[in-house]
Amino acid sequence: MRAVAVSAFGAEPELMDLPQPEPGPGEVLVAMAVAGLNPTDWKIADGMLKDAVPHSFPLILGADGAGEVVAVGPDVRRCTVGDQVFGQFQLVGRGGGAYADYAVAAEDAVAPAPRNVTYATSAAVPTAGTAAYNLVEETRVAEGKRVLVVGATGGVGTFVTQLAAQRGAEVIATARAGSAELMGQFGAAVTVDHTQGPVAQQVLAAHPDGVDILIDLVSGPEAFADMTRVVRDGGTVVSTVGAADTDMLIEHNLRGFNFENRPSPQLLSILADQLDAGRLTVLITSEVQLEDAPAALARSRTGRAQGKTVIGL
Ligand SMILES: NC(=O)c1ccc[n+]([C@@H]2O[C@H](COP(=O)([O-])OP(=O)(O)OC[C@H]3O[C@@H](n4cnc5c(N)ncnc54)[C@H](OP(=O)(O)O)[C@@H]3O)[C@@H](O)[C@H]2O)c1
Repeated sequence: MRAVAVSAFGAEPELMDLPQPEPGPGEVLVAMAVAGLNPTDWKIADGMLKDAVPHSFPLILGADGAGEVVAVGPDVRRCTVGDQVFGQFQLVGRGGGAYADYAVAAEDAVAPAPRNVTYATSAAVPTAGTAAYNLVEETRVAEGKRVLVVGATGGVGTFVTQLAAQRGAEVIATARAGSAELMGQFGAAVTVDHTQGPVAQQVLAAHPDGVDILIDLVSGPEAFADMTRVVRDGGTVVSTVGAADTDMLIEHNLRGFNFENRPSPQLLSILADQLDAGRLTVLITSEVQLEDAPAALARSRTGRAQGKTVIGL
């Protein structure tokens, strides 16, 4: 089968011809229709999890995808052949991933795909959508809270903005001028252009009393520490890139943490319901074919991706 994989940590991703995987106990084999791209894909290829778990090479890239179940392993209870599913497929220990004609997933890593949207839309959701849902949940975004989202125009940020606004929060979203209107449609009350000066300074100029919650998807440790200046005493801050110094945050009377996503089939189903009901919009800015996945990964590395990129299979 066709797959985009790396032969070692740090190697260039390339299109390969690899054997079709087989589902083990509790696993399903899916004929992939579309894979979704996330920055985690190239981070894993670079060795992000190198010291945490064993990897097998060639390592097929890609967590997210959607398609049809074509075989099930022993002890599978929730899925049957013919089910349309979406979810997460990266199995680094077996070299398995979503950028392939076929991929294996644990049955509890997938859920029934939403019925009213395309496979492309479904494939764009699992990692970024579940992360966004958990971020607003864990930072206790609620009615009347003022929330600053830094990196709001990316995959996770477009979902965070919508989910926080749905909860009645006042969302301040970073966005270049060209994306400001779109972020408003997603529910942002106001946007701050991060290319026009320090975000913290701009937010404090417009809102001297600060924000209740900071959800930062892009800043490194130094920029993140500076960003926390906008958060009121007793407020909550979170980083998705490990930039939070929790001891320093306690000293400043902030509740802060480095986020680790915990996806689940229940969470995928909640998002599927939202998609079916038209309450969640997926911003797909790029649809590429499998042979163009290496170039799409290179674009993601620049940190300039808007919305989501999906890969047709
Ligand atoms: N810890 C976890 O469990 C977890 C889970 C999910 C994601 N993540 C991580 O969270 C990060 C975000 O993920 P993603 O999928 O949303 O990435 P993405 O789609 O690549 O997001 C890129 C976005 O960030 C914006 N951006 C870049 N630099 C910025 C800055 N200085 N200020 C404001 N906006 C900026 C870009 O806008 P412009 O081009 O306009 O600058 C672009 O829209 C990634 O590093 C990802 O690996 C972690």
